[in-house]
Amino acid sequence: MQLDKRVVAITGGARGLGFAMAERLGREGARPALLDVDREALDEAVTRLHQAGIDASAFVVDVADEASVQQAFADVAENLGPVSGLVNNAGILRDALLIKARDGKVEKRMSLSHWQQVIDVNLTGVFLCGREAATQMIEAGHAGVIVNISSISRAGNMGQSNYAAAKAAVVSLTSTWAKELARYGIRAGAVAPGFIETDMTASMRQDMLDKLTAGVPLKRLGQPEDIAESVAFIFANDYFTGRVIECDGGLRL
Ligand SMILES: NC(=O)c1ccc[n+]([C@@H]2O[C@H](COP(=O)([O-])OP(=O)(O)OC[C@H]3O[C@@H](n4cnc5c(N)ncnc54)[C@H](O)[C@@H]3O)[C@@H](O)[C@H]2O)c1
Repeated sequence: MQLDKRVVAITGGARGLGFAMAERLGREGARPALLDVDREALDEAVTRLHQAGIDASAFVVDVADEASVQQAFADVAENLGPVSGLVNNAGILRDALLIKARDGKVEKRMSLSHWQQVIDVNLTGVFLCGREAATQMIEAGHAGVIVNISSISRAGNMGQSNYAAAKAAVVSLTSTWAKELARYGIRAGAVAPGFIETDMTASMRQDMLDKLTAGVPLKRLGQPEDIAESVAFIFANDYFTGRVIECDGGLRL
């Protein structure tokens, strides 16, 4: 897809990977609509993008809330026109072991609220935003691209029952949407990043990060621009749909 002047909604676009995607797609001429729950970070992000000559706009949304998502997408359409692209990137972590036990005694369990918060944002949010974006694309009668951000953790990762389950599920949504939406000229792809330097990984312990990096064949964490490059590839390649790009420096969990 040619990105020139196309409206591309990017959830969680106020920082980290989403911001790098806005910069990357914006440089190719797209008009990024940043959708994020953090109003202050959104304003800062849009200012930085404007300084780089990118025609970006900000919309406050909670991707886990149906009414909020419907309102935000309606606002995007009213202000910028219907979306041609969506990157479902907003995500959170609430890590905990399913069960933590010592000497046969269970000390801690993952709470239902930590399970639910991650499923709500990382999975239901993808469903809600994907549904709004596809609706706009179909009613506008133009082609579209939806990219879902998964994770290397989708293979299963210690302490991440909630996150790994959601990130595996968004790959299933991707292949389902590729089949269902192709008839409308809509493609769907996923990117599964490895460990990338953002606020999300900055919250991990340094010794854990060092251990992780040592196991990466390329011996470094990824940069947000590496993931933005994979997202840009999915937009550019009109024969790509239903598949997931693994961009992780060669790491296998
Ligand atoms: N950083 C990594 O190493 C890594 C690896 C694999 C996958 N990912 C995935 O990439 C995506 C982006 O990660 P990141 O590292 O840039 O994270 P980040 O924490 O730096 O940024 C996430 C953004 O999402 C926003 N957000 C959170 N909840 C929201 C909600 N309910 N509604 C709207 N916006 C919300 C936050 O305000 C924030 O701006 C996530 O889906 C994450 O799971 C990241």
